[in-house]
Amino acid sequence: MKISVIGSGYVGLVTGACFAKLGNDVVLVDIDAERVDMINRGEVPFYEPGLGEILKEGLAQGKIEAITDTISSVKWADVVFICVQTPTTPDGSVDITYVRAATKSVGEGLREREDTGYPVVVVKSSVVPGTTEFLVKPILEDLSGKKAGVEFGLAMNPEFLREGAAVKDFLEPDRIVIGALDEKSRNILSSLYSGFNCPLLHTNLVTVEMIKYASNAFLATKISFINEIANICESVPGLDVLEVARGIGLDHRVNPQFLNAGVGFGGSCLPKDLKALVAFVEDKGNYEPKLLKSVLEVNDFQPLRLVDLAVRVLGSLSGKRVSVLGLSFKPNTSDMREAPSIKIINRLLELEAEVVAYDPVARETARKELGDRITYAETVEECLKGADCCFIVTEWEQFKNLEPSDFKRLMKRPLIFDGRRVFNPEKFIAEKVDCYSVGLNKLSTS
Ligand code: UDX
Repeated sequence: MKISVIGSGYVGLVTGACFAKLGNDVVLVDIDAERVDMINRGEVPFYEPGLGEILKEGLAQGKIEAITDTISSVKWADVVFICVQTPTTPDGSVDITYVRAATKSVGEGLREREDTGYPVVVVKSSVVPGTTEFLVKPILEDLSGKKAGVEFGLAMNPEFLREGAAVKDFLEPDRIVIGALDEKSRNILSSLYSGFNCPLLHTNLVTVEMIKYASNAFLATKISFINEIANICESVPGLDVLEVARGIGLDHRVNPQFLNAGVGFGGSCLPKDLKALVAFVEDKGNYEPKLLKSVLEVNDFQPLRLVDLAVRVLGSLSGKRVSVLGLSFKPNTSDMREAPSIKIINRLLELEAEVVAYDPVARETARKELGDRITYAETVEECLKGADCCFIVTEWEQFKNLEPSDFKRLMKRPLIFDGRRVFNPEKFIAEKVDCYSVGLNKLSTS
């Protein structure tokens, strides 16, 4: 099929490159000419394992190209995916400025089409229930002068891509969820996705919008739940959240995923979508989403608990050199949006600690986010050197290989606050390295 993808950010680029890999002809559109040039050179403007390879493959085979002109891509395509960002406004609600602008251009493109085809416009951006039907559809109809469901199709098809695993998540999804306005749109999308070996769930537009938000809300709830259990475990002798999570996760009704206690969830989706859902419900005014608000509240405090623990152990952090290992919101990405590291570092700076941080890929992102308020180490060794304590904030594979001897050799005092359960505390404590772990009521060497 001929696919146009409006918005070549994270979701758009992954979607476009993967559809090209599957044999479709893809045009990626972005208003940023510099980004378009980069993509056409085969360069991915962010860190995502495997994406560069399939993009280059698609470019070499002439299956994909990036342009800045939405209208011409809409005139050409069988299916148009709207993949623009939906950021959070200061009150937590979703900002649909970009969706509105992209929809207008798509509407203009539809107006200029003279063929007898049936282009299907598909919203992939995360939008609150009702947006596709009551905002996107009227704009498209107004600007095109054509009728949805008659002269062009309309659907909503959310993505469930995890950063760092997005290509795999796209090509091997657990499920594909399609909400279509009409049967023709539904059939066209079914055939686009026919090669995928997973359930295809068909429902209406508003339900898929809710499925997207509810999925992320559920994942966030699971994390805040296990973090709360971890916090309880810390105060009861003999308890370890790892064992508790294992015991819960073996129940098939629960499953072991997303039960890793830590310093809280970050990233571009979970916090944003949860806030958007809360704001959406509160705006409706007839229900208070108490559980979802608590999930956010637990998550707000979770990163700071690690700093509180350090204060309890060290007394004051003023003037102390604190090594922070990991800045990205999770491993295998350079993304620091809503990263727990930001909250932790800001708090450490408030307490007048001297912060030195290391991340294998997020250093440049961190410089933009945190400026020169902290020192950026080039290596783990440089980060640990002379430190009074070390915070493990992201569970990069590289950190898992560190041995107690590394900390003893490099740090002023071998003291670790393991916010991601990267280390076996028994092993470290046996080798005289103080290792405090999230969710574990077993304290130091002394
Ligand atoms: C998420 C959803 O997983 C994906 O389906 C959706 O489309 C986009 O949002 P992503 O933001 O890439 O993906 O990250 P994810 O792997 O879900 O992790 C989110 C955050 O939760 C990270 O900060 C991670 O460290 C944290 N997390 C995850 C935990 O703290 N514990 C866990 O058990 C799992």
